[in-house]
Amino acid sequence: MTARIAVLASGRGSNLRAILQAIDAGSLDAEVVGVFSDKPNAPALRQVPRDRRWSERPASFPHRPAYETALAEAVGASQPDWVVCAGYMRILGDAFIARFRGRLLNIHPSLLPKYRGLQTHARAIEAGDPEHGASVHFVIPELDAGAVIAQAKVPILAGDTPETLAARLLPREHALLVAVLRLAAAGVLAEQGDITLCHGQPLLNALSLDSADRLLP
Ligand code: GRF
Repeated sequence: MTARIAVLASGRGSNLRAILQAIDAGSLDAEVVGVFSDKPNAPALRQVPRDRRWSERPASFPHRPAYETALAEAVGASQPDWVVCAGYMRILGDAFIARFRGRLLNIHPSLLPKYRGLQTHARAIEAGDPEHGASVHFVIPELDAGAVIAQAKVPILAGDTPETLAARLLPREHALLVAVLRLAAAGVLAEQGDITLCHGQPLLNALSLDSADRLLP
């Protein structure tokens, strides 16, 4: 059955575009049922028809929980099977996470557990790491800390800046997110405590792009 995907995004939306292109190409059996943003001007919003867009400025709510409640209601109304944070730059509240837990995913530009939070590319270069990457993981209340599902790696080259490294990584991120969503849409992914189950078996290591595709039913 076609998976219903809600996407949370704050910015340009290149990950969302990758999802939409995979759906159009017939390589992902899913439908983007809504795009939800804290930034009414986010380019990501313009990739879907108006009746699938929701955006509210958090500052226009009396307090943080009120914004979170409105967001959760809007996302819930779209009846998603999966909720994907793709460049959503706010920390989600516990109530939101509890409501969608187990079907709430995030793409984070680092090889978790390294470099939770921001400026991941700069931190990886600064540390002298030989490689960097992106992770898709289940979302739990602790930031960037949920069970990792899959990771894509790229080398860090001499002379890299955060910008050149981010540009090398981005296409890999897109492929990784789509690969994980194929598994999610196929119904073979689940979160159990702090581990990922794939086909009911614990994942001992994060999937790579290749191994993710091999696990498709
Ligand atoms: C990506 O690098 C993603 O990993 C991070 O934010 C960026 C969003 O990019 N969480 P885009 O808006 O999908 O182009």
